[in-house]
Amino acid sequence: MRGVVKIINPYDAGIFPEGDVIILNSNENPYEPSEEVKKAYLESLSKINRYPDASYPKLKKAISDYLGVEIENIALGCGSSELVSRVCDIIVNELDKVVIPMPSYSLYLTYAMLRDSSLLLPIFKNYAITPEFFEKEKPRLSIICSPNNPTGNTVDRKTAEKIAECSEYVLIDEAYAEFAKKNLVDLVHEFENVIILRSFSKFFGLAGLRIGYAIARKEVAEALEKVRLPFAIPTPGVATAISAVRSINYYLGLRDKIVEERERVFSKLKKLGFEVYPSEANFLLFRAKKDIFEELLEKRIVVRYLSGLIGLEGDFIRATIGKREENERLIQILERCVASA
Ligand SMILES: Cc1ncc(COP(=O)(O)O)c(C=O)c1O
Repeated sequence: MRGVVKIINPYDAGIFPEGDVIILNSNENPYEPSEEVKKAYLESLSKINRYPDASYPKLKKAISDYLGVEIENIALGCGSSELVSRVCDIIVNELDKVVIPMPSYSLYLTYAMLRDSSLLLPIFKNYAITPEFFEKEKPRLSIICSPNNPTGNTVDRKTAEKIAECSEYVLIDEAYAEFAKKNLVDLVHEFENVIILRSFSKFFGLAGLRIGYAIARKEVAEALEKVRLPFAIPTPGVATAISAVRSINYYLGLRDKIVEERERVFSKLKKLGFEVYPSEANFLLFRAKKDIFEELLEKRIVVRYLSGLIGLEGDFIRATIGKREENERLIQILERCVASA
């Protein structure tokens, strides 16, 4: 086995308890799919004896309509996670500089390390990225996340442009962009070296079907498609994702509810005295010790306890915004924790 594999930390996917539990630990959409989307999924089952169309023209057309980008600029993956790996594969050579501002999504490190890159992890307090580090290092690849997991804030356009100007390539992970009601997709038209990463797992609530996509200039999109696992997205995933895009108004409605709840929970947490990060995603990060995580778990609420992350000193909880009643229950338990502290 290659040495680097031994020093890569396993991906921490959280815990998956069974039974009657409020799940707020993986930033999923708490709502079920629309009726049309469920129907599309069920109808596709009669075709699972066949491979899906290997180049996925209909799914790409749906994404193209959704974001107003050309089909030739789209590459697909088995979740956006797979595309992080593929982007590193097609771009990063041994000892190339890969800059990943911290604190951020841990999976970037795994795939950058697997390429035997020279990894640079500058820490930006509250993920308030400034471009000087990138200007000095002139990375082969910079990986930024907007809104960022786990801090929830976005990277502003000017900063992203500056990073694009001094990096050979920039991967901008926008898995949560719909919750921010803004995105950086059009940078792909402005810069030949920008790759945007998007997901059907969060806003479209299809985490269980594993569909992600990248938007990039034609040559990069083609390269990503060339090295993708054939048939990476299963037939039901294709049918369901196309139907989800057609149900856009349903998902926009859910998004608005989630954003409204995010702001409500943010205010409540602040009132309770928690140090909480303003978020443009569907989760909130706040400083809290492990005993609070354990108390929530005992009361059947699963959130993410984050400790020892690069760039995030101390103990934190990251809680996904759930349905109103789920958030209420979370706040209720936290109120009790604060009262008894
Ligand atoms: C920032 C970020 N990017 C990508 C992903 C992976 O999403 P997918 O389900 O599309 O693989 C996640 C999942 O939590 C994430 O937080």
